[in-house]
Amino acid sequence: MAERDAADRHVPVLLQRCIDLLAPALAEPGSVMVDATLGMGGHTEGVLDALPHVRVVGIDRDPQALALASARLARFGDRFTPVHAVYDEIPEVVERLGLPGVQGVLMDLGVSSLQLDEAERGFSYAQDAPLDMRMDATRGRTAAEVLNTYAEEDLVRVLREYGEERFAERIARRIVQAREQAPLERTSELVDLVRAGIPAAARQTGGNPAKRTFQALRIEVNDELAVLARAVPAAVEALVVGGRIVVEAYQSLEDRLVKRTFAAGAEISAPPGLPVVPDTHAPFLRLLTRGAEEADAVELARNPRSQSVRLRAAERLRPTPEHLRPGAAPAPRTSRSKSRSTRPGPRRPA
Ligand SMILES: C[S@@+](CC[C@H](N)C(=O)[O-])C[C@H]1O[C@@H](n2cnc3c(N)ncnc32)[C@H](O)[C@@H]1O
Repeated sequence: MAERDAADRHVPVLLQRCIDLLAPALAEPGSVMVDATLGMGGHTEGVLDALPHVRVVGIDRDPQALALASARLARFGDRFTPVHAVYDEIPEVVERLGLPGVQGVLMDLGVSSLQLDEAERGFSYAQDAPLDMRMDATRGRTAAEVLNTYAEEDLVRVLREYGEERFAERIARRIVQAREQAPLERTSELVDLVRAGIPAAARQTGGNPAKRTFQALRIEVNDELAVLARAVPAAVEALVVGGRIVVEAYQSLEDRLVKRTFAAGAEISAPPGLPVVPDTHAPFLRLLTRGAEEADAVELARNPRSQSVRLRAAERLRPTPEHLRPGAAPAPRTSRSKSRSTRPGPRRPA
């Protein structure tokens, strides 16, 4: 039943759009796509069914997701390779598999329905469970450790930056007062503290008030933004010329990172005043989406998780110039590089 388990637990967001965007890069027999967020394997299954000559390397940091997805995808035999890794390790994974580069990368960020549904993993404010929230439950610090050991000002920073929580100071104060009595252990305790820390008028609007605090803690526990900031450039680096990357983000902090990385690759990096732009400073990415694409009414009806999706895609035009490779010293921004960005192509027929 494991195959059905995985399929039933998570409906892939904007699946057909992802396949349409990636397919031109995966046209050649032997093409390889990295699914950097395998999850329940929904997107990977869609790609493997639609493009029968393609091989997929599926990465996830969650061993439970890898096991369920692997069972679901067993029918594809050696066209599917599961890898337990964090997605900023894409270049190492690709190298270990002996590949010179890949033709496609897909990233469907955030948590899967499996992680939210399994109460004992502690991701959900709607169910009482131990305060864990690790995507890889075999290592790293838990949400309880963060809540019980961080200085009050660090808790405020986490809630404000990662949860965009207006009442960060009040909630952090409650957490510190509570842990002076006894360490926090359960999600229900945290939900109660958030509720108590928020003014009554603010509790009436915007859904469960604990939502932002849980998001912030999850991001901190899994170091999600720092990992993503390394991972998107690393994923672009893994692409061969002509290769394509699609990223689906579900909150503005993540989407901003993706947008900036793609935009930096799609603009001229030469100083102003040169009569001809040398190849070394020409854009190395072409944007395939105009801004971020969102779910339409049909998708929304099919899949409520698509509500907040922001999809962006890009294609590699040439190797990354030396001075823009990850780890290179940042080049100063110029007014010309801003104004002469390559324009994104049309919204649909990319
Ligand atoms: C939204 S789900 C992907 C769902 C998948 N596209 C599907 O159709 O079933 C995101 C997955 O990415 C994984 N993940 C999140 N951050 C990760 C990271 N930094 N490295 C590797 N996997 C990560 C999560 O464990 C989760 O299983």
